Amino acid sequence: MDDDIRPRATAGPVDLASAHVVITGGSSGIGLATARLLAVRGAKLSLIARGRDRLEAAANELSAAARVADVSDSQALTRALAELEAAQGRSCDVLITSAGLARPGHFLDLSDEVFRQMMDVDYFGTLHALRAVVPGMVKRGHGSVVAVSSAAGLVGIFGYSAYGPAKFAVRGLMESLRAELKPCGVHVGVVFPPDVDTPQLTEENRWKPQETRAIGGAIKPLSAERVAEAIIAGIDRRRFLICPDTGTRLLARSGSLLMPLLNREFDRRVRAVRRKHGNT
Ligand SMILES: NC(=O)c1ccc[n+]([C@@H]2O[C@H](COP(=O)([O-])OP(=O)(O)OC[C@H]3O[C@@H](n4cnc5c(N)ncnc54)[C@H](OP(=O)(O)O)[C@@H]3O)[C@@H](O)[C@H]2O)c1
Repeated sequence: MDDDIRPRATAGPVDLASAHVVITGGSSGIGLATARLLAVRGAKLSLIARGRDRLEAAANELSAAARVADVSDSQALTRALAELEAAQGRSCDVLITSAGLARPGHFLDLSDEVFRQMMDVDYFGTLHALRAVVPGMVKRGHGSVVAVSSAAGLVGIFGYSAYGPAKFAVRGLMESLRAELKPCGVHVGVVFPPDVDTPQLTEENRWKPQETRAIGGAIKPLSAERVAEAIIAGIDRRRFLICPDTGTRLLARSGSLLMPLLNREFDRRVRAVRRKHGNT
């Protein structure tokens, strides 16, 4: 066995007051809210996103380092991560992958391009970041990696045939990594937010089929701050499962047992929408 990946004794939590925390998607929504709370804790922050304006605004507000990169471009992302580690004079202690994209729609209406894009950004964007920072963490026997999946990564939902599988893939990746990295002292966490009040949700709502809206019902979206608090508590306590609300926690713990009941209720809501509006 390679000496560098010899299992280590269980490490304690990363000290966020002195840690270098990299957040992909740190310029908006959940990523930005998490960055704000981490800035209060004193962390050295590095942010990655594509759009320069929002990224610079976030970096200026939080005195963070930042690099423009598309997470689906593995070379550009790896280069950005290396530059951020050099700029901060410290390796990445914590990686939070929040960069993501959701495009709901009827399966029959979605283009092949959308299916590919969800996997490229939501799944491969997470994978590329992990592949870049995990080897160093394993060598140091220390660190924390947290990926943002979704409630749509716990249960198949009408209208999410492109987004859901990408978030299921993130969950599968993190479950395997948890097992592999635990003996190396690296904490692995995965976040399952329900609807969260962010620019992504506003954009997503433009595309949601009526049936998907009916399934969501009148549940009020969580604030990004609430999800950020759950992420930080998850890092402090080295939790694998990071659920910002009770409903998602129940789904994460007992999803397969609840499936028959959930499907019955989801199907009932879809039928009601179709009776009212016809086949949408
Ligand atoms: N909001 C919800 O209801 C909800 C629910 C469950 C899970 N989630 C997940 O939570 C994560 C954060 O979402 P959010 O709601 O906070 O969305 P948001 O406010 O739209 O923020 C998304 C962030 O990701 C960046 N990003 C998007 N595509 C990127 C790419 N290809 N490369 C690099 N950066 C990229 C965005 O910046 P640029 O566009 O400038 O690149 C932005 O900083 C996502 O993974 C999302 O799927 C959200």
